[in-house]
Amino acid sequence: PEDIEGDLTKVLVTEEQIHDRLNELAAQIDADYHDKDVLLVGVLKGAVMVMADLARALSIPLDMDWMAVSSYGASTKSSGVVRILKDLDAALEGRHVLIVEDVIDSGVTLSWLRENLLSRGPASVEICALLRKPDAAKVEVDVKYVGFEIPNDFVVGYGLDFAEKYRNLRSVGILAPHVYE
Ligand code: PRP
Ligand code: MN
Ligand code: MG
Repeated sequence: PEDIEGDLTKVLVTEEQIHDRLNELAAQIDADYHDKDVLLVGVLKGAVMVMADLARALSIPLDMDWMAVSSYGASTKSSGVVRILKDLDAALEGRHVLIVEDVIDSGVTLSWLRENLLSRGPASVEICALLRKPDAAKVEVDVKYVGFEIPNDFVVGYGLDFAEKYRNLRSVGILAPHVYE
């Protein structure tokens, strides 16, 4: 097979830019949570890369847990119906929760997830997302830590997939239309 980078029309965010920005966000998070015990909640599967790199950029003590959620069918994402495929292992009572995501697209996933986690009695729930597409927003989500705002293009890489492929790209780029048309 061809090198997967050849399926991109453009690199939007380079590996180095991701690395530098995650270090900046980690410094903010280190400061904001210096006196708190934080639980990072990664949203499978897209958040795997940002979780792994953000967690290692942080200096504070932390726990990591994972959730997998799914909209009911790819075409009905805007319905706002989300279901849990894999729940957290940790209980959230009194915990400071920081949700870690790769991208906010419509906002449906994160607005639902924040409400769901808030219902479990945590001390706080904040969100860290590497990417946000403001032009795709259907629901406004209050995100404390954002890496990059990007245009509403079909992007892949660094956790983001097309049909489960391209998650292992080290950068984030726009997928060439010939791949999905
Ligand atoms: C993608 C992405 C976010 C979500 C954002 O996940 O990783 O979790 O969609 O979209 P939204 O803001 O419109 O809800 P996806 O459902 O593709 O699952 P994956 O992480 O396993 O790829
Ligand atoms: Mn996801
Ligand atoms: Mg996906």
